[in-house]
Order: sequence, then structure tokens, then C-alpha cells
Amino acid sequence: MDLNLAGLLPEALLIDLPEIDAQHEEIFRRIESLKAACFGSGPVSFDDFASLLDYLEYHFASEERIATAVGVDFAGHATVHRDNLHALQKAFAEVRNGARDVHSFLRYAEYWFERHIAVEDRPFAASVKNCRAKSGDGPRPADSG
Ligand SMILES: [Fe+2]
Repeated sequence: MDLNLAGLLPEALLIDLPEIDAQHEEIFRRIESLKAACFGSGPVSFDDFASLLDYLEYHFASEERIATAVGVDFAGHATVHRDNLHALQKAFAEVRNGARDVHSFLRYAEYWFERHIAVEDRPFAASVKNCRAKSGDGPRPADSG
């Protein structure tokens, strides 16, 4: 099945940090691709779910790197990230042992992810931009995606 997964990130969820917006887009793309695979007729690869979780870990590390570079206090956000990752890993472990089905996991991941952007990353982006404005910095090359 051919899927057009371009431009999945809704405009309302853009946070105006290009590197992070691009990663959010990629996470949406991976979730949509897993949903399509799970509704298809072929076997679902657990490796693709594990790869999504690995990418989330990379994404959280990127946000932490940007925060550190501009001097934004990230302790609270890092704790939230750790808790999020543990919850998603636990849900995936339940998929692996048969206690949860893949659709349930994907509904959970999708709901969590939109909330992550709206509730956690939007204020984070505002803090980053605020710190950059105070120090007279414009957008960094690392944010160019
Ligand atoms: Fe994020």
C-alpha cells in the first residue's frame, strides 16, 4: 500500500523551532506508518515500534541539547521526558507480552504525542526563544532542520 505521509504535522502543533518541528513531523510519520501497517494484512514488525521509541529518546535528547545550549532550565522537562518514555516502554512491553494490542498502543502513543507538543514543547519553545532574544541570538544553524 502506498501512503502519502508528507506534511502530517498540523500547523496548530508547529512550535517554531525548525529542528524540533521536523522531528515531530517524523514522529507523526512513524506513528501513521505503524497504524497503516497494523491495519494491513501483513505481519507487524515489533522492530518498527522499538525504532519509534528509540527515535523518541533521540528527540528528547535533542530538546535537552537545545535547552542546554541557550541556558534554559530543563530539569522539570527532563523528568517529564523520562516518565513519558517509561510509560511508553511499559505500554510496548504489554504489547510484546500480549496484554495490550497494537491499536491500543498506537492510540495511546498518538494521544500522548499531541499532548507532549501542546503542553510540554510549546512552553519549552517559548523559553528557548525568550533566552535567545535576551542574549541577542537569532535562530541557530542547528535549528535549520
Ligand atoms: Fe517534542
